[in-house]
Amino acid sequence: MTAVSPPRRMILNAFTMNCVSHIQQGMWTRGDTRQTEFNSLEPWLELAQVAERGCLDTIFLADVIGLYDNYKGGADTSFREAMQVPVNDPMLLIPAMASVTKHLGFAFTSSVLQAHPFTFARQLSTLDHLTTGRVAWNVVTSYLPNAGNNLGFDGLPPHEERYSRAEEYLEVIYKLLEGSWADDAVVNDPERRVYVEPDRVREINHHGHYFDVAGPHLSAPSLQRTPVLFQAGMSERGRTFAAQHAECIFVVGSSRSGEAIAKDLHQRAHFYGRSATDIKLIGGVAPIVGGTETEALAKRAEYEENLSVEAGLAHISGNLGADLGDIDPDQPLETFQTERVQGFIKNLLDSAPPGTRTMGDLIKSNLAGAWLTGSVEQVADELERRFNSGLDGFNLTYTVTPGTFVDFVEGVVPILQERGVVQSEYVVGSLREKLFGHDRLPSNHPAAAFRS
Ligand SMILES: Cc1cc2nc3c(=O)[nH]c(=O)nc-3n(C[C@H](O)[C@H](O)[C@H](O)COP(=O)(O)O)c2cc1C
Repeated sequence: MTAVSPPRRMILNAFTMNCVSHIQQGMWTRGDTRQTEFNSLEPWLELAQVAERGCLDTIFLADVIGLYDNYKGGADTSFREAMQVPVNDPMLLIPAMASVTKHLGFAFTSSVLQAHPFTFARQLSTLDHLTTGRVAWNVVTSYLPNAGNNLGFDGLPPHEERYSRAEEYLEVIYKLLEGSWADDAVVNDPERRVYVEPDRVREINHHGHYFDVAGPHLSAPSLQRTPVLFQAGMSERGRTFAAQHAECIFVVGSSRSGEAIAKDLHQRAHFYGRSATDIKLIGGVAPIVGGTETEALAKRAEYEENLSVEAGLAHISGNLGADLGDIDPDQPLETFQTERVQGFIKNLLDSAPPGTRTMGDLIKSNLAGAWLTGSVEQVADELERRFNSGLDGFNLTYTVTPGTFVDFVEGVVPILQERGVVQSEYVVGSLREKLFGHDRLPSNHPAAAFRS
């Protein structure tokens, strides 16, 4: 399959999670956010419609399958602050959101520790059918020990082992989705009383280290077959995995380290026979916009009041696997010393914005790290600058929801559209068609090796 890539444009995803508090901890206590309504469908339907109004590419749903339970030795802070708990299944929101939209894509997270790949492959196909090819899967390997304990792994399997499992997990998924059914297996011919031609469906007979799967796949091929693949691992092994398999890769770090990571990922992808146009690099940003800069800064100052240092510390402790419970928020920065996670704390200290006096201020600045504050023009300018220096797009993180997305869609998107940087209307077709110009994974992708 030789495909012509569509012209480069900025990709935008509304980044959220099926829970009360995703990243900017503490904001749920405000009156102008619908975070605590996450158990009902209506706010999700509203969000989907806002995103489609702004021609965003996807709603991207994060997920965890365990508690952040190491801060001050337990999960109490996580519960009190609704810090990614309670958290519902992201996948189940998708058909409902798809039913009120026509073009918007839906990316959701599922860990390779979570569902058996046979079961998961059927869920992927079902979602891809129901949405006519608008689904992406964010492949993660999990980082919370409680997730491992919940799924019978006796703690989190070691990092290398998680990626080895991920490799085999993807192989099973590819065999089922790409190789089990021929394109013309479904004939739907009532006159001959043949719905499926039996000789066009085959078993996969996978016998591996982690999984044994006979097949055949139980769903017929969907528009994309394998959904668009997202990935976010930044370790050595994570980058190699991403360079081989992922189509959208999340790049974290400052704009300078971002450029270096982009170069590194492109080199690795090249090694595996993939080109830079096969991969989109996505950064993160939390836009706080106003009609004027002054208005935006006033909004930001108000938001800062709501940030929860305590929940922020619980979040970071879970991400780092180190209990930061002994950090005193009132402690002046210059007197802080730690033997633990020195690299992280040093980075945090080095990047402290002017005026940061205490450890609490520092944690708040980390919580708000991706905040991009300014007038609608200023925010559009900065995103365009980052786009021109190599990033293909952004996950938009909310401060309040759907308010952050509404402000962005109404204020910033029209400017970027006027400049021709983002799409003004959707291309018809699957999510992969919209992003890459073709419905199926291309022939230089490892999945292609498993086609019949
Ligand atoms: C933008 C972004 C989104 C992520 N979303 C999730 C998520 O929803 N669930 C999850 O378990 N991990 C998530 N992660 C974590 C990564 O998937 C990965 O597990 C982590 O970066 C550790 O992998 P590494 O050791 O290869 O760096 C996310 C990371 C980034 C940068």
